[in-house]
Amino acid sequence: MRISLQEAASLLNLGDVVAIPTETVYGLAARFDLPESVEKIFKIKNRPRQNPLIMHLDSCEKIFPFMPKEPPHFSSLANEFWPGPLTLVVPIDPQMIPEVVRAGLPTQAFRIPSHHLTQELLRLTGPLVAPSANLSGRPSSSLPEHVESDFGAVFPVLDGGACQKGVESSILIFDGEKWVLGRLGAIPSEAFGSILGYVPALSICDKAVCPGQFFRHYAPKAKLHLEKNLEGAKCIIGFSDRNYPMSSQKILWGASNDPEGVLFRLYDTLRKVDLEGIEEVWVDCDIPDEGLWSTLIERLKKAAH
Ligand code: TXA
Ligand code: MG
Repeated sequence: MRISLQEAASLLNLGDVVAIPTETVYGLAARFDLPESVEKIFKIKNRPRQNPLIMHLDSCEKIFPFMPKEPPHFSSLANEFWPGPLTLVVPIDPQMIPEVVRAGLPTQAFRIPSHHLTQELLRLTGPLVAPSANLSGRPSSSLPEHVESDFGAVFPVLDGGACQKGVESSILIFDGEKWVLGRLGAIPSEAFGSILGYVPALSICDKAVCPGQFFRHYAPKAKLHLEKNLEGAKCIIGFSDRNYPMSSQKILWGASNDPEGVLFRLYDTLRKVDLEGIEEVWVDCDIPDEGLWSTLIERLKKAAH
């Protein structure tokens, strides 16, 4: 059910859960300071309780009171990428954030989203925690229709249209010494190099530091094959500027020089495959493992797992 900004703010302030738009994907939001409301998110999504949530705020200044010590480069990363699709995980004062939000960890993930509706909403509600608005393990939601398909037509959705990026934020975790990548996302990792002086490595994390890496993600019901050679494939997800075998069914998600466009259509395409009842699909993975293509490859590997 599509609701107005005022309705979304009232529901959230009363302790309800509401789907909200961001520039990356839709989120399933609750006020961070109402633990019983946060509990509802885990139930609705069927999310493992050990998987912590990102806190969304309307300005960076509001993060400082939670953080006893500002990690190096925190402010330069914030100035460069916020508001926008970056999440920073930092050590916090655990007494200031309910345990259910951070899954008992002594750290917290923060993000300042740029979507204008959610910016306005955050001014009316204060900080909101929000995981992606999808059933746990399934493709994320880049359109309000995706949220309704997962949670039902009466679920309250603040309609912000199609999410601009269509893929989740990049996550950087401060490990006490350096920043490491907790998740590839809408910002290519190479972009962090000029600020940090090094390109952050993808963290080979243990469960205690990045629990999210250990759960099933983004997966459609269809079986995905990630291939460079597509001879004999019955159904192909591929690029509009390439030729594929005549006999195959083709689903085209954009040009092979446009990773942003392909990521924008990623979750809608995976969801359509299921809606059309396709059981097995071959994805053209003849792409370089760099920049935003690496984000696509990472999502597909998890989705195919
Ligand atoms: O773009 C996004 O980030 C979207 C929008 C709605 O903001 N949110 C999102 O949330 O993708 P979620 O919950 O689907 O993914 C957040 C990831 C999870 O893998 C979680 O494990 C990780 O962030 N995370 C959250 N808090 C963490 C922490 N304290 N330490 C390490 N990883 C954390
Ligand atoms: Mg998610």
